[in-house]
Amino acid sequence: MWRHRHLLGIEELDVHDIDVVLDRAEHWFERSRKTVKKDALLQGRTVVNLFFEASTRTRTSFELASHRLSADVVNVNPSISSVTKGETLLDTAKNLEAMRADLFVLRHASSGAAAFLAKRLTDVAIVNAGDGAHEHPTQALLDAFTIRRRKGRIEGLVVAICGDIAHSRVARSNALLLGKKGAEVRLCALKTMMPRHAEALGPTARVVPRLEQAVDGADVVMMLRVQTERFGGAMMSTPREYARTFGLNAGMLTRAKADAIVMHPGPINRGVELDTRIADSDCSVILDQVEAGVAVRMAVLELLLTNRPQR
Ligand code: NCD
Repeated sequence: MWRHRHLLGIEELDVHDIDVVLDRAEHWFERSRKTVKKDALLQGRTVVNLFFEASTRTRTSFELASHRLSADVVNVNPSISSVTKGETLLDTAKNLEAMRADLFVLRHASSGAAAFLAKRLTDVAIVNAGDGAHEHPTQALLDAFTIRRRKGRIEGLVVAICGDIAHSRVARSNALLLGKKGAEVRLCALKTMMPRHAEALGPTARVVPRLEQAVDGADVVMMLRVQTERFGGAMMSTPREYARTFGLNAGMLTRAKADAIVMHPGPINRGVELDTRIADSDCSVILDQVEAGVAVRMAVLELLLTNRPQR
């Protein structure tokens, strides 16, 4: 039923794999709404969170997911670890593996970092929690979970992904997953924030130049943060100018379907890519995405750790 040792990207998953994660996440979603949330399933297993980039939602939800499944979880903070003394990623990882950890959750600025470790470590499962601008598979899975719960399906929906596509691993993983599941994906960004060959990001991805066109008749509007930290220079416009042309506000949202939902992976830059009233309105599912994140990560930990021998 589940044949993967690691979760490195949506690229390697087929529709069946995606459905297995989403179905299992339903179970953990319901469980997480109960007073007693803890299950003994992963008792005795050890999860290490290894985050080389900032994170609030992803790291915390992996930690909560581990606790809810009774695994032991350790957070390694690279800024106060021997990484600051020049230790390589591989040496750091090998040392943690020697402590007989079972699974690493890795976030790193370099595309391919998770695959790099997966190739070189023999005893540890790797979950990619974001590698550069490459992939962020659990984010796409929790987004799909949220869409499926709200809309009852993914197939045939029109999903607009708007914002800093060029730097966004979230956009890439979502374009792949939603395309595989049969949604129509529209990608919309300022020229400086749109990668070359953007249509190759997903099997149904289509580039649309203006926000109006992207939002027009959409079932789902997913807004992305401008990742100023990855630009290495000044952005093309001021935040106010950006909000005027590429920000989602109430007027723009009237172009979408009447029952459209608005998504954002967080962190939101309120008043830049997203009007603050929209972020807090009934059509926003941003906090539903966060809730789904714990359940989806429980499902991923379960699938990766119960399908491998105990060390
Ligand atoms: C995103 C990320 O780090 O890729 N955040 C997240 O995981 N929810 C997006 C971002 O930083 O803008």
